[in-house]
Amino acid sequence: MEICLCCGLKLKNEGPYHKGCLQKLFGTARIPVINFASSDLLSEINKNIEKMSISGAQIKASVKPDIGKNTIEITGYGGTHILKPEPGDYPGLCQNENLCMNMAESAGMEVPPHGLFYLADKKLCYIVKRFDRDELVNKIHVEDMAQLSGMSPETKYEASLEKVGKIILKYSRRPYIDIVYFIERVIFCFLTGNGDMHLKNWSLISALENSGGGYQLAPCYDFLCSKIYLPGEDESALTVNGKRNRISSDDFYALSQYLKIDSKAYENSFARIRGLKNIFLELIDNAVYFDQRERLKEIFNKNYSKLFANSKF
Ligand SMILES: Nc1ncnc2c1ncn2[C@@H]1O[C@H](COP(=O)(O)OP(=O)(O)OP(=O)(O)O)[C@@H](O)[C@H]1O
Ligand SMILES: [Mg+2]
Repeated sequence: MEICLCCGLKLKNEGPYHKGCLQKLFGTARIPVINFASSDLLSEINKNIEKMSISGAQIKASVKPDIGKNTIEITGYGGTHILKPEPGDYPGLCQNENLCMNMAESAGMEVPPHGLFYLADKKLCYIVKRFDRDELVNKIHVEDMAQLSGMSPETKYEASLEKVGKIILKYSRRPYIDIVYFIERVIFCFLTGNGDMHLKNWSLISALENSGGGYQLAPCYDFLCSKIYLPGEDESALTVNGKRNRISSDDFYALSQYLKIDSKAYENSFARIRGLKNIFLELIDNAVYFDQRERLKEIFNKNYSKLFANSKF
């Protein structure tokens, strides 16, 4: 069975992408040809680094599709997408991120269009549409939780999920919706073995003027199973109920209570995610491009049992 390298769902003789997925990502249904290889990327990125304005530990480039030439160009200003090549020290990271983003999307979370594409050396890279650019490539203001809490990027692990939740409640234009989205993402990250959701991996984004302005929770980004590469990593980058490890459903419930999430709303979210098990497992099984999918499945199944086996909902 062939699956789409963007959404991870089945194809009907149209491979290797759904036309609709390409259209959503690039505004055209043609598959772009990437003329640079992973080895060219570093030097190209260095030429444009000052203008790129994207931080983070991984190598990444700000790019834009050239629709006329049907290519992807590395660019300083005017980038509309982020391209991440496969890092040598973390094999399969692009595939891992694409899969986790697809799982998040299947859970109804807001995920920017994304997909896997072949570089000139036949290695896969991950491309995601920037959510901080509008259709005219104007910048949309985004602030991450390190900035919003006045902490330096170096201290991005020295905080709690309670603190992130409080910031969402304080600044969001729709606090009661975003706080539920937040706790659903927290549970999802626990299930997928993501122990790297530090302060800079949560952001608020300026809402469009026609929806009343103000800030809201930014779409998901940097969702991946870090446990595959760092087996001894803490379960959670930020503390929950004072813990980074041996986290149970009681701790997430305590977080929801601290953030004054209505018990019924929390119970619904918790049960909804619990009910998605088979959908998640099918996406993992079908991700044939990802060599470590069995390992991800093991991690997911283990965390799923830990969370749901003794929970009161
Ligand atoms: N789709 C997107 N649109 C706009 N900005 C994004 C998007 N994805 C990521 N970013 C921004 O780029 C930064 C780096 O991206 P990301 O967190 O995915 O990379 P990373 O190098 O894996 O980060 P880390 O240092 O957490 O490992 C993020 O902190 C966020 O500010
Ligand atoms: Mg990050």
